[in-house]
Amino acid sequence: MGAKQTWERFFDAHAPIYNDQVFTKNTMDEVSFLLDELQLRPGSAVLDVGCGTGCHSIKLAKRGYAVTGLDLSSEMLSRAAAAAKAAKVSIEWIRANATEFVFPERFDAALCLCEGAFGLLGQDDDPIEQPLSILCNISRSLKPEGKALFTVLNGAAMLRRYQNVDVSEERFDPLTMVASSEVPPQDGLPAVAVRERGFLPTELRLLFRIAGLSVPHIWGGTAGNWGQRPLDLDEIEIMIVARKTAEVLVTGERVNGRGDR
Ligand SMILES: C[S@@+](CC[C@H](N)C(=O)[O-])C[C@H]1O[C@@H](n2cnc3c(N)ncnc32)[C@H](O)[C@@H]1O
Repeated sequence: MGAKQTWERFFDAHAPIYNDQVFTKNTMDEVSFLLDELQLRPGSAVLDVGCGTGCHSIKLAKRGYAVTGLDLSSEMLSRAAAAAKAAKVSIEWIRANATEFVFPERFDAALCLCEGAFGLLGQDDDPIEQPLSILCNISRSLKPEGKALFTVLNGAAMLRRYQNVDVSEERFDPLTMVASSEVPPQDGLPAVAVRERGFLPTELRLLFRIAGLSVPHIWGGTAGNWGQRPLDLDEIEIMIVARKTAEVLVTGERVNGRGDR
């Protein structure tokens, strides 16, 4: 990997305080929910994309699953590895960009939680290509009929929250659903300018379908409030439950060119 992209710098810096964030406090319930939802066989191989400090990976490994955690940030991964060691579980940790990996047909299930990498755009990432590359890589890494569960930013909430002034002042682009903001300084860490992409359920179904993934369920998926319930228009995150049912419909290592921004 070349120069650090924005989110790698961001999470390297925030790794020491990540587990203090309120949205990380529901891991036990989330793991129970996702195991109920995915109905995995004991010992299944699970890929956790954008695994962060390994909260979900470690709980899954404790329950007997063979877990691989993948993340862009070496600082997040080193905390994950230390926590796994303390919990006496063995997990494979991989440092990679989720837009650039593939482990052909190796996993029974994949997770991409609390955005993981999905829609967390680097400065040069295309808002369609970035999430589609991740979906294609995950799909290619799943066994046939493999399952997946994602939580991603809810574009409906963005559309209801942002005003025309945010568009004219370039805080939100309704053509790409990209919000550009500056995360304020926190605990001595500097402010960072970031780009985050929101998604609507219809386009999610389409993107997943292009990647060979069918979507049996879309639920409300805000951290701390996961449930088999309809999406609330104003909630922060959408949950997508998916299954690999076909081959990826696009070819090439990257999905396509740089596209429109
Ligand atoms: C909000 S955290 C979520 C961590 C974890 N999934 C959770 O639920 O607590 C997002 C994680 O995705 C990682 N990430 C962001 N962009 C990525 C990319 N392009 N490839 C791989 N990981 C990425 C970050 O380093 C960070 O650890």
